[in-house]
Amino acid sequence: MIEFQNVHKTYRVAGRDITALQPTNLRIEEGQVYGLIGHSGAGKSTLLRLINRLEASSGGRIIVDGEDVTAFDSQQLRGFRQRVGMIFQHFNLLSSKTVADNVALPLKLAGKLSGRELDQRVAELLARVGLQDHAKKYPAQLSGGQKQRVGIARALATQPKILLCDEATSALDPQTTASVLQLLAEINRELNLTIVLITHEMDVIRRVCDQVAVMDAGVIVEQGPVADVFLHPQHSTTKRFVQEAEHVDEGEQRDDFAHVPGRIVRLTFQGDATYAPLLGLVARETGVDYSILAGRIDRIKDTPYGQLTLAITGGDMDAAFARFTAADVHMEVLR
Ligand SMILES: Nc1ncnc2c1ncn2[C@@H]1O[C@H](COP(=O)(O)OP(=O)(O)O)[C@@H](O)[C@H]1O
Ligand SMILES: [Mg+2]
Repeated sequence: MIEFQNVHKTYRVAGRDITALQPTNLRIEEGQVYGLIGHSGAGKSTLLRLINRLEASSGGRIIVDGEDVTAFDSQQLRGFRQRVGMIFQHFNLLSSKTVADNVALPLKLAGKLSGRELDQRVAELLARVGLQDHAKKYPAQLSGGQKQRVGIARALATQPKILLCDEATSALDPQTTASVLQLLAEINRELNLTIVLITHEMDVIRRVCDQVAVMDAGVIVEQGPVADVFLHPQHSTTKRFVQEAEHVDEGEQRDDFAHVPGRIVRLTFQGDATYAPLLGLVARETGVDYSILAGRIDRIKDTPYGQLTLAITGGDMDAAFARFTAADVHMEVLR
């Protein structure tokens, strides 16, 4: 659905060039929820705004739904933007218009629907985001979560194939974030909408995304399926985001484990393996003892996973390691 071929972007500010995006290649398949994570200034918004050409690229080709958007003239661009919806951190609603009028705005601009059809479409959109009883309110009378739902309804008004989300949950509390993410997941599933989502929280990626790219200083430093990147981060930036999500202080782990005897391994379980009674079984069979040093069981999108750090002592350790590896478990020896 979206392909970047050697795309880069440089801003010129007061006679100086600032490279926001180094030459980048990227593929986002139709129907995916694709996450972009990185610290402030990493180039996330720049990358996103290149997709719907809110920013013009400095070079390279951007193919969206089979068309080279870098070659569009202004009229083609107008039609194209109706096929790409966008939502923002601070919602960008018009405060002087009602909820219904905010959602109707892109439909009026497109000018394809009669008054009656338009009212009906707005009602459908508000129902989809759970705001059917708030049509006549003004933005100031809504909570943050409700405002973002208006933003989503407005973005969906022209039936886009792509939805771009720039820090759409960053101004919301955790519970509201969860409900907005759930709505995005629903929309992705039911409308087969391709979603590109920017965040600085790994937890947001973990809940809704299929794929993730980690950005640092205008470069994608790591990318892949969320389970791979989240459970086995390679780049130091990625590791820091994962630690943040798991509330682990840097340096905490290794120090604590210094006093613990035995070998230290980390086991990662995914899917059905998460609930298999493997540890007791292996301990009985091979005579090893284990203590759990750190652990977490959660879900990545719809798939359960568990990650346990164990100290293993006594028994036939090699046999135990072989049993772990043979089971549907990923094992890393940390020490
Ligand atoms: N319109 C602009 N003009 C000049 N510099 C910009 C502009 N937009 C972004 N930048 C610069 O580009 C870099 C990346 O910014 P941005 O894409 O907004 O990062 P992020 O969204 O990851 O925080 C930053 O150094 C920022 O200052
Ligand atoms: Mg940004």
